[in-house]
Amino acid sequence: MAWLIPVCKASAIAFLSALLIHCSNANGQDSVRETVNYPPLWDNVPDSLDSFVTIHNKTLINPWNYQERMGMYKILLNVTAKYMESFGPRNTGNVLWGLPLQHGWQFNTGRLADPSNGTSCGQKTVDPMCISPTSWWSCMNYYLATIPFLGAVEAGFFDEWPFEIEILPPEEHVDDFCYNAKDCHTLIPETMAKWTNFFQLLKKTENISQSKLLPSISPEEDTVWHHIWIAHVSSIEAALPKFSERLTYISAPEAQFGVSWGSAVEFIAAAHFPTNFNQTNVFQVYLPQRMLLAHDKAPFIPDLSKEENWVLVALNILYEGNKMTDGWLLKFWKRAMCSERGREEGRNLLENIISNPDLILPGICKLLLEFIKNHNCSITDA
Ligand SMILES: *[C@@H]1O[C@H](CO)[C@@H](O)[C@H](O)[C@H]1NC(C)=O
Ligand SMILES: *[C@@H]1O[C@H](CO)[C@@H](O)[C@H](O)[C@H]1NC(C)=O
Ligand SMILES: *[C@@H]1O[C@H](CO)[C@@H](O)[C@H](O)[C@H]1NC(C)=O
Ligand SMILES: *[C@@H]1O[C@H](CO)[C@@H](O)[C@H](O)[C@H]1NC(C)=O
Ligand SMILES: *[C@@H]1O[C@H](CO)[C@@H](O)[C@H](O)[C@H]1NC(C)=O
Repeated sequence: MAWLIPVCKASAIAFLSALLIHCSNANGQDSVRETVNYPPLWDNVPDSLDSFVTIHNKTLINPWNYQERMGMYKILLNVTAKYMESFGPRNTGNVLWGLPLQHGWQFNTGRLADPSNGTSCGQKTVDPMCISPTSWWSCMNYYLATIPFLGAVEAGFFDEWPFEIEILPPEEHVDDFCYNAKDCHTLIPETMAKWTNFFQLLKKTENISQSKLLPSISPEEDTVWHHIWIAHVSSIEAALPKFSERLTYISAPEAQFGVSWGSAVEFIAAAHFPTNFNQTNVFQVYLPQRMLLAHDKAPFIPDLSKEENWVLVALNILYEGNKMTDGWLLKFWKRAMCSERGREEGRNLLENIISNPDLILPGICKLLLEFIKNHNCSITDA
């Protein structure tokens, strides 16, 4: 376990950074901001296929328009609601909520606009609804929006719809994406299969039994989280190498944040973190509310809250910790998350990081050491 030593040393650095943040009250904004919000323009987003244009027996969806891409999410939330009634009232427990809420954050913070300044796509005053195929965030999100939607199409959620559904390509970079289930099985076979599998599983589920309150999740609900996170991680893994050159259009701190966020999602996924409506809204306020600029250096970005600053530092520590250990940090984290008890502790840790940011690496170290000591995971759990 030699690799644990540098990681646990790094936790000392984390602790110091946290102290710094706690001590530097110079930053303008106040501590915990609680906002529970629907994604931007939610009321104008189409909630059924009727709202899209149908020409020549083909229903056309343009995922390069914010409202239409968000429309795919709204429709998915609508058609899956009945399978997740017991997860929370008014569909707030739907496991899909994390995706549209993240997309809304991307839209609000200007991350879907053309960062190369070559076009006015996404500029608030000129072409606000446009989603740019040169934006790293918008390309990554395509794999978490259109692909899930096509998975649901393939799983038969829209079999009653009388028309063929067609996804429109962007004006450039056409080959980076796929536009129907068949082509997606060719371009990204594993990812497509995982999303289809998730929606098939949902459809097969008669009624998923009552869940208990966080952090305990019923085994049935846990299965649903398990499968959506498998598909989610697969989308990120498929998209990351495809869009690495898009990172050159954004500032170095923004690119670093994007990549470390993608890596953190794997830790979050392994804990089966319930990114439902409430949970996502709670943690999302800690993500930077604007794109990072070349001179931004967390934790000293004056116009971001101290939590936003901290999250940037924490993500970086996690990313570097994992890189330093050649991916072993994540591998061991996944092992420790192999039982529901481990995942419960993992979720607790992730939730507490925001209020006690200095916990991140010490917390992981403690959890891993405990796991190694007790090895409390049966073969069947894994
Ligand atoms: C659309 O489908 C209907 C029923 O299958 C058919 O009668 C009609 O000719 C089709 N229209 C076009 C434009 O293909
Ligand atoms: C789905 O959308 C339809 C039509 O817009 C609406 O009548 C229905 O209540 C929605 N269902 C759910 C579960 O939100
Ligand atoms: C699922 O169970 C809830 C009560 O727990 C019930 O209100 C709902 O109608 C059921 N849904 C389905 C699809 O059977
Ligand atoms: C989300 O919060 C609302 C309002 O506090 C609550 O009524 C609902 O039960 C919560 N949903 C879930 C899934 O926890
Ligand atoms: C983008 O273009 C606008 C107007 O053409 C210009 O004012 C602005 O400085 C440019 N920004 C960058 C980062 O090049």
